[in-house]
Amino acid sequence: MNLILFGPPGAGKGTQGKALAERFGIPQISTGDILRENVRMNTPLGMKAKEYMERGALVPDEVVVDMVKVRISRDDCRRGFILDGFPRNVAQAEALREMLRGIGKQIDHVIGIDVPKEEIIRRLSGRRVCRGCGANYHVIYNPPSKDSVCDRCGGEIYQRDDDREETIEARLEVYRQQTLPLVDYYTRMGIYRAVDGTGSAEQITERIVGIIGQRGNNP
Ligand code: AP5
Repeated sequence: MNLILFGPPGAGKGTQGKALAERFGIPQISTGDILRENVRMNTPLGMKAKEYMERGALVPDEVVVDMVKVRISRDDCRRGFILDGFPRNVAQAEALREMLRGIGKQIDHVIGIDVPKEEIIRRLSGRRVCRGCGANYHVIYNPPSKDSVCDRCGGEIYQRDDDREETIEARLEVYRQQTLPLVDYYTRMGIYRAVDGTGSAEQITERIVGIIGQRGNNP
């Protein structure tokens, strides 16, 4: 099963991606996580991506498309994968279609996670992330048991640079202008389904699993 998790910043793509990856035993591919890791390691790719990410803009398509191509060709994607944060515009969607066609694959489901704007802002401004393992926390909804320390690996918990208020607005605007047109794109292909993204993370996971099951493509 090849799945795209779609939605605005803070909709819960990463949270659901991790849960579904565990449930189905296929990898979650988060372009945001891969880019952040490159920034942290100061790689040439990271140095190129950093300034775009800091202002909430999209990193140039060719950089991200090449990165995804390499990742999807790895052996662990043989049984399927979950894309989180990619594609982000029509050019990336076209590039994905081409690269999958080249290896005899296609996208089976695009699940759009719907969350009201006020809730998105609450989720993003309260999000905290572990520097060590990337685990996601929220100061109110899902705080770590010990302040600033990851429950899972003991790593330091920090606030992402792009989760500051002014950058959140810029990211939402980029989403509206460049990413939202993909709803029409995938609806026309007959593979887009929206899911209510409010409620507990577990409830949302079950809704997504229900949609995937209904469409008869459960791995
Ligand atoms: P990226 O990392 O992809 O950021 P994003 O799309 O803005 O998404 P987020 O990670 O902010 O949110 P999410 O939907 O994963 O929500 P999460 O589960 O964390 O991209 C960052 C940057 O990288 C981009 O701005 C761009 O510069 C670059 N980039 C990445 N991909 C690119 C591409 N394809 N092309 C070009 N550039 C690209 O949840 C958010 C918070 O809410 C967490 O605290 C979580 O604990 C909490 N939460 C989740 N679910 C619930 C729930 N049900 N109830 C309560 N709280 C919840």
